[in-house]
Amino acid sequence: MSTPPQGKLALPKLAEMKRRGEKIVMVTAYDAPGARFAEDAGIDIILVGDTAAMVVLGYDGTVPVTMDEMLFLTRTVVRAARRPIVIGDMPFGSYQVSDEAAVENAIRFFKEAGADAVKLEGAGPSLSRVRAIVGAGIPVMGHVGLTPQSATMLGGFKTQGKTAEAARRLVEDAVALEEAGCFAVVLEAVPAPVAAEVTRRLTVPTIGIGAGPECDGQVLVYHDLLGLTEGHLPRFVKRYASLSREIRDALESYADEVRSGTFPEEQHTYEMPPAELEEFESSTRSPSRSRARDQAAKSSCTDANAQLPAPLSEPPVRKTASP
Ligand code: KIV
Repeated sequence: MSTPPQGKLALPKLAEMKRRGEKIVMVTAYDAPGARFAEDAGIDIILVGDTAAMVVLGYDGTVPVTMDEMLFLTRTVVRAARRPIVIGDMPFGSYQVSDEAAVENAIRFFKEAGADAVKLEGAGPSLSRVRAIVGAGIPVMGHVGLTPQSATMLGGFKTQGKTAEAARRLVEDAVALEEAGCFAVVLEAVPAPVAAEVTRRLTVPTIGIGAGPECDGQVLVYHDLLGLTEGHLPRFVKRYASLSREIRDALESYADEVRSGTFPEEQHTYEMPPAELEEFESSTRSPSRSRARDQAAKSSCTDANAQLPAPLSEPPVRKTASP
């Protein structure tokens, strides 16, 4: 097992928080600014969720996102997050085939992307994957209830564990994930009393999303809680801001001002020392240019269609912004 970087929240602290009844806060993030905002807000865990497929990569569901895409996003979050535990979400296809493939891909998250842990969905066949990955020294977060990667098998994006029998199975699955070595388990779209029972039965923390207030912690998708996601949202989402409205307004104002010429104003424009400006302007009126211009002016007296010669040099290209 590698040593966590200095300042990093230690994984065993999560179980301590559960014992003390201190809530664990988890949020998804997919880039460095998001990770920095989460860090500054004192978030405990950042999940680089496969929801990236929809909220940042433009896919219709989570299934198409690839290992390489998830590793790229995880690396950007890891670079910016110091204290929060960063979890790489294993995408569909990266752990379903065999324990060996699951371990290989978990190692990529751990070694290439620098994630502190990985998350995978389901129980059943996922249990031996958890054992294998934990056996390789990589911490694993479980995820039961609504597992979006298998939403088709579950009959759509529906609440899980709504019958007594399904609820009992869900509790058993969560217990089995803890026994397999998970350090925490996400409960998604589960009736609150069922999530409460799971939370009582496990010694590792439960992190709820649509699973009621008795879970040991909560997780929401960054874009959902900030109001960046447009259209229908599940009822468990609470919007804490309306950023998509603000972004649309800002972009529309910018476009209007560019088109009307009200942007940029003087305060957005660079000046140069007057002496330099004078020298610059007189150099653009160089003798050869002036001669050419004089000639053109003379001939324009005799030929109304005479044209000025083309400028002698191209305008300078702006490559960097200096204050
Ligand atoms: O991918 C994701 O964002 C998740 C959370 C919804 C828990 O799995």
